[in-house]
Amino acid sequence: MILQKIVAHPELHAAWLNTLSFMENAGARKISACEHPIKTQIIQLKHAAEEHRHAYYLKNKLVKLGLEGFEDYADASLLAARFSKQYLARLDLMACRYLKEQFSLADEALKYAAYLFVTYAIEVRADELTPIYQELLSAAGSKVNVKSIILEEEGHLEEMISQLQAFDSEWEKHAQEILKMENTLFDIWITALKKHVFPVVHEHEESLG
Ligand SMILES: [Fe+2]
Ligand SMILES: [Fe+2]
Repeated sequence: MILQKIVAHPELHAAWLNTLSFMENAGARKISACEHPIKTQIIQLKHAAEEHRHAYYLKNKLVKLGLEGFEDYADASLLAARFSKQYLARLDLMACRYLKEQFSLADEALKYAAYLFVTYAIEVRADELTPIYQELLSAAGSKVNVKSIILEEEGHLEEMISQLQAFDSEWEKHAQEILKMENTLFDIWITALKKHVFPVVHEHEESLG
């Protein structure tokens, strides 16, 4: 499995942490960008604050591990930089197109709907992926752990569901469509990660003879 290879390789693992930090930060910025200037509720503020914390937490791990070259989000310090950077923007674009058509929304209302559905899809993914990552970290005896992130992501998924229920009684039907979009983009991202990671692992194994 790709993630196992990443965790086992210190340089790749550091780039992975930086990539996750980038993605958490992109998510946090997206949530903040969707806030209504007046109507924003505490649940959205909490969510933005926690995603920002995740981005900081992961970046700070890199500092604590004494790893250099990860001070910023330059492409060379990330895994599959182009795809990692495009993932959220592409999902947002696809979701907005769909939601605009389905609900005839515009401006602030469309932004809010996109926040609900895009974030929901990301939380579903995070709830699947982060525990797998934690298991690999524990198995490898890593100094990194993401248990506090897992706990908050579980809360986020519940919060997104309750906000979606309040938004539309048929939310599940639409959420399924957004999840399909996310699945497609996730597969593209994994393919890009493999293209980045496998040659590095292979070279490393060769050098070990
Ligand atoms: Fe997060
Ligand atoms: Fe989250």
